[in-house]
Amino acid sequence: MSGRFITFEGSEGAGKSTQIKVVESFLNSHGITTLLTREPGGTPMAEALRELVVSGNTDRWSPLEEMLIMYTARSELVRTVIKPALEKGVWVLADRFADSTTAYQGYAGGVPLKRIKLLHEIVLGSFAPNLTFIIDLPVEDGLLRVHSRAQTISRFEKHSQVFYNKVRQGYLEIAEDEPDRCHVIDGSEDIENISSSICNVLAKKFAFDLSQ
Ligand code: TMP
Repeated sequence: MSGRFITFEGSEGAGKSTQIKVVESFLNSHGITTLLTREPGGTPMAEALRELVVSGNTDRWSPLEEMLIMYTARSELVRTVIKPALEKGVWVLADRFADSTTAYQGYAGGVPLKRIKLLHEIVLGSFAPNLTFIIDLPVEDGLLRVHSRAQTISRFEKHSQVFYNKVRQGYLEIAEDEPDRCHVIDGSEDIENISSSICNVLAKKFAFDLSQ
């Protein structure tokens, strides 16, 4: 596959959506065609599954059921959108991917990590992002941002601070386990500093000239 697959991860309110747009402009300015997507979602079918999983009460689905829904949506998104784009040389930028399942359903929800790895292997084999940015922010700051801008609170945003501390810790452990793929970015910096940290990582990893 000639494209690259870059994912953006982090807890609620970390600023992923803002940064993904910055990266899109950065890559486009270097002549690279990009495709933006998100999880859960990114196709009409996966968006329908997203609606099912993000709405309602927290106990509507167990973490195991959430994992299965996420992987159903992910399978369809990878098969119909991500892989075809990568094959055409397009760089795919995803707002969340499999690390979200490991952090939310695994570290925070209690699904054994071995089971999540096994399901990943069954559904996607060794398919993984080339690069992942984990935007890290103290839980209270992230939730404050979410609650100040949201009109409706999603199922996941109704979880406790304890749950989100586990999500945050999970992401940091994922980054420790896979230091070549994962880069932790300090999300409490101002937006411009976060963007320049991210562009520096991109430039180093993919040999871009930042002066252009
Ligand atoms: P978003 O708010 O970043 O759009 O993501 C929707 C919610 O879905 C967010 O609270 C995290 C959750 N989620 C999981 O729990 N597991 C997953 O695998 C994915 C992709 C998202």
